[in-house]
Amino acid sequence: MKRILSGIQPSGQLHIGNYFGMMKTMISNMESSDLHVFIVDLHALTSVHDREKLATGTLEAAADFIALGLDPQQCTFWVQSDVAEVCELSWILSTLTPMGLLERCHSYKDKVAKGIAASHGLFAYPVLMAADILLYQSEIVPVGKDQKQHLEVARDIAIKFNNTFGETFVVPEPAISETTAIVPGIDGQKMSKSYGNTIPIFLDEKSLRKRVMAVQTDSTPVEDPKDPENCNLYALLKLFAPEDKMAEVHDLYVNGGAAYGYLKQDLFELINEYFKGAREKKKQLLDNQDYLREILAAGAGKAREKATVTLELVRERVGLKY
Ligand code: ADP
Ligand code: TRP
Repeated sequence: MKRILSGIQPSGQLHIGNYFGMMKTMISNMESSDLHVFIVDLHALTSVHDREKLATGTLEAAADFIALGLDPQQCTFWVQSDVAEVCELSWILSTLTPMGLLERCHSYKDKVAKGIAASHGLFAYPVLMAADILLYQSEIVPVGKDQKQHLEVARDIAIKFNNTFGETFVVPEPAISETTAIVPGIDGQKMSKSYGNTIPIFLDEKSLRKRVMAVQTDSTPVEDPKDPENCNLYALLKLFAPEDKMAEVHDLYVNGGAAYGYLKQDLFELINEYFKGAREKKKQLLDNQDYLREILAAGAGKAREKATVTLELVRERVGLKY
């Protein structure tokens, strides 16, 4: 069984880009892999400096995953900071990470351009992510396309460590689904918690409707033909609509007759239906937070066992055992 691992930041409400880019793939791999899913609160600290927001976001992200179908009994599911070994590995890896490798990372530059403070933690973010991946000897890492470069950094660091100190780490492979690599936000840019352009998975019906109606479209008249490939409303519909419905919509786009208002109503109904059951389940989970905490503590115990084995080996390899 392959070891598959991926994490998500509890830095805001999880959205349909997170779902199709990563969560859905992870959940569907539950039975056929040695699955590792975690909530990366230490990474979220690079952008969230509000204790309530981070703590609540972490519990909510855990509830979200379970409500969407993750069974904690069939995988290892934990909160990153509960296994602090990752910080030690991160430091060790940082001592052999070239500055140039981090300076080339787009994500750092994009985040600073969007107004996130340029801290050392934000700059070193990819090293902590490499530590996450390597500590658990992960083979496959499902992510959205925005994380591709970070995966390359993790691979480079693994290879450099292995060459310097002898075979220690599995070199991980990214898994990026072509069809959902970048889910657009309501403004057509990549949907992201930090861009304020998301459609959250767990909105109540009324807010969801409002959000979907805010999807930006151009001003082409209804009867004129439109280009489906350059329309974010079309891209979003494609995630939820069955094939026959999508064939009809495609027809309306290329031959004229696509009315954005009606299509947004369709999109709202499809999203609402898709996540209705999960919404109910999340409510129940949040009503029983002790149960959630127990699950996460048990998950951290399982994760720590694996982390300790790798870290002992690393300490030995680099000379931290005397
Ligand atoms: P955000 O950018 O909203 O903060 P995260 O960085 O927490 O999201 O990403 C969690 C996972 O979801 C990652 O694997 C990321 O690649 C994926 N993801 C995030 N946004 C999108 C998107 N718009 N399309 C596809 N995948 C996405
Ligand atoms: N950087 C990832 C993101 O923003 C989250 C993350 C942290 C991650 N550690 C990871 C993803 C390890 C995969 C594997 O989406």
